[in-house]
Amino acid sequence: MKRTILFLTFAAFVLGVSAQNQIVIKLNEHCRYRGYNTMEAFQKRRSVNTYETRDLSLQDLSDLLWAANGINRSENGKKTAPSAMNSQDVDIYVSRADGTYLYNAITNDLVLVTTEDLRPLMDGNRPLGTPVILVLISDMSRYKNYSPGNAEQNKHLYEMGAIDAGIVSQNISLFCAANDLGTRPRASMNQDALRKALNLKESQVMWLNHPVGYPK
Ligand SMILES: Cc1cc2nc3c(=O)[nH]c(=O)nc-3n(C[C@H](O)[C@H](O)[C@H](O)COP(=O)(O)O)c2cc1C
Repeated sequence: MKRTILFLTFAAFVLGVSAQNQIVIKLNEHCRYRGYNTMEAFQKRRSVNTYETRDLSLQDLSDLLWAANGINRSENGKKTAPSAMNSQDVDIYVSRADGTYLYNAITNDLVLVTTEDLRPLMDGNRPLGTPVILVLISDMSRYKNYSPGNAEQNKHLYEMGAIDAGIVSQNISLFCAANDLGTRPRASMNQDALRKALNLKESQVMWLNHPVGYPK
């Protein structure tokens, strides 16, 4: 029964194969007008602990990811979140029951990274059972002056990555507040197991995860 529900949930999203033979979920074009106004969003922003288990709609997921770190200027590829030296170092991984995907803001789709549901690796200290957890990972190699294996030289880039991830995190929180979704930024997660499951490079630093769902 559980397997059938998982399959139906998965099939509800449009699955495809990209030109590079990757399995992808095509996201919707983001809505241009939705949500409470800015001041109301600030008023409503808070960390939520209890969520419904139902899945996010494809439109909510698409709008959430665009607001988090989508492209808002097609003429130069710049994004909703600023980044130091326009490094665009923050990637968003999307973990769901059917697997974990990487958000590609350019093609507006989710690329399957692993069919593993990695959410249990992030819910250790506070089980939440949200349909989606976003993981924010900075890739220091996007900076021109990244020096592989040289922690001293990369210290500044490491710090910039933390700040960039924090900005994406706040985009997520404010989008959720403005649209009656719940979220909570969390630093705690099983970093070792996640790094292995996502096959991360040394230059990639895992900063925060965000469970997202409809609050109870
Ligand atoms: C950088 C950062 C890391 C956090 N890590 C966790 C965490 O690991 N687990 C958790 O339950 N909450 C975490 N939180 C959420 C805070 O506990 C929460 O923001 C704080 O209690 C204030 O509540 P509010 O967000 O409702 O204002 C984190 C928040 C930030 C900004």
